Amino acid sequence: METKKIFIKTFGCQMNEYDSNRIYDSVSKLGYVKTSNQSDADCYILNTCHIRDKAKEKVYHEIGRVKKLYRGKNKPIMVVAGCVAQAENKEMVNREPFIDIILGPQSYHKINDLLKKYIVNFKQEETEFDTISKFGYFDKIKNNDNKISAFLTIQEGCDKFCHFCVVPYTRGPECSRPFHKIIVEAEQLIENGAKEITLLGQNVNAYSFRQDSKEFRISDLINHLNQYSELSRIRYTTSHPRDMTDDLIDCYATNHKLMPFIHLPIQSGSNRMLELMNRKHTVQDYIKIYEKLKKINKEIEFSSDFIIGYPGETKKDFEETFNLIKHIRFINSFSFIFSPRPGTKASKLKMIDKDITKNRLIKIQEELFKNQIEINKSLENTTVEVLVENKLKNQNKFFGRNKFLSPVIFDGNENDIGKIINVKIESSNQNTLFGFYDKDMRAA
Ligand code: SAM
Ligand code: SF4
Ligand code: F3S
Repeated sequence: METKKIFIKTFGCQMNEYDSNRIYDSVSKLGYVKTSNQSDADCYILNTCHIRDKAKEKVYHEIGRVKKLYRGKNKPIMVVAGCVAQAENKEMVNREPFIDIILGPQSYHKINDLLKKYIVNFKQEETEFDTISKFGYFDKIKNNDNKISAFLTIQEGCDKFCHFCVVPYTRGPECSRPFHKIIVEAEQLIENGAKEITLLGQNVNAYSFRQDSKEFRISDLINHLNQYSELSRIRYTTSHPRDMTDDLIDCYATNHKLMPFIHLPIQSGSNRMLELMNRKHTVQDYIKIYEKLKKINKEIEFSSDFIIGYPGETKKDFEETFNLIKHIRFINSFSFIFSPRPGTKASKLKMIDKDITKNRLIKIQEELFKNQIEINKSLENTTVEVLVENKLKNQNKFFGRNKFLSPVIFDGNENDIGKIINVKIESSNQNTLFGFYDKDMRAA
């Protein structure tokens, strides 16, 4: 088989990262090998994200850059995949003839056929929501990811239709993978060396797979994964407050591999805004979940996403969000200015003044970052458990994460990659902890 090179540039969420790896696994059957040299590929894939800002324009800008890289060379097969491909479909090839293939997230199982059929100037587009066929196709292809911390998609799509969000239109309806297929893939990842698995889904805790008369939930997956002695840590993302059911909450009492850190986006601290956003939960619902979890294990930390300047947000609504972050000290959080997405309900609403929104974002980020800095500072001169993931490029330092997903950079040892070790924290900044391997302390 002739060897060809493929380069994938990935934007967006963890699921896009997972998908890019699965595309590599698929095209390797056609003789493609992954290259890290983006100007020397036979096939160039942009795996795109549509969640905010000028996503579409960014893609055209990227293609302009790729065109320059290949000036005077053989043109690679140019594929636009991901959520922008799904949202824009044929429009893209009409506007940019450099693109050969448009491929939506639920059609990745067609990638090999599309590449086989490729001939110059023949444009192809696949944007069907065919999630079950996609899952079935990839179930037959081994996952070759060999990272210490690996992603594993268990569920895709969203039926919640928050008024601001494009995901239900780009990823399609909720669809959960068969329980036993997920376990087979988890076993492959563990065999490849994974010590941590993060279960992925747009609404990961809405996972529901029925077989015979039994319903399998994410709690069943977590409890099953807990049994693998080679696996040290289990995480999941992104969860929705509405699907934070008691069986999942109870996992925190019984499952020592489930990390005490939850990314649970609330978006706003105002019930009025949550209603306008169509979030289908209240601030009180969220606080109830927070309190239940804290009661089970007070070590559990939360992070969230916030949308600032959603149409209709008043000073009072914003103050309620601000008060919420004083009440729940999120360990880290993401805050975004509302970005109208084509096709969503909120895109038709009147935007609030840009300067007001900007000032609110600055104010909320100051508070969120202050929390983060204080929490990280409080860890200085203490010892934290770190799963060692890799050695940093061009530095004699190692990278890993503590239980709460905070990045830790430290002086360590090549032999410790894949192990949980104790790191003595010497200094920190807003995002990262710095330290050294504390040999005198035994890792738990
Ligand atoms: N499914 C997750 C949930 O419901 O919490 C969120 C998934 S979305 C990929 C990640 C985050 O992007 C959201 O939590 C939200 O804060 C943000 N987001 C989504 N649409 C947005 C928009 N139109 N403008 C600004 N931020 C947005
Ligand atoms: Fe988007 Fe809401 Fe679905 Fe999350 S729950 S993916 S924010 S529509
Ligand atoms: Fe972006 Fe699609 Fe993920 S819009 S955040 S790549 S689901």
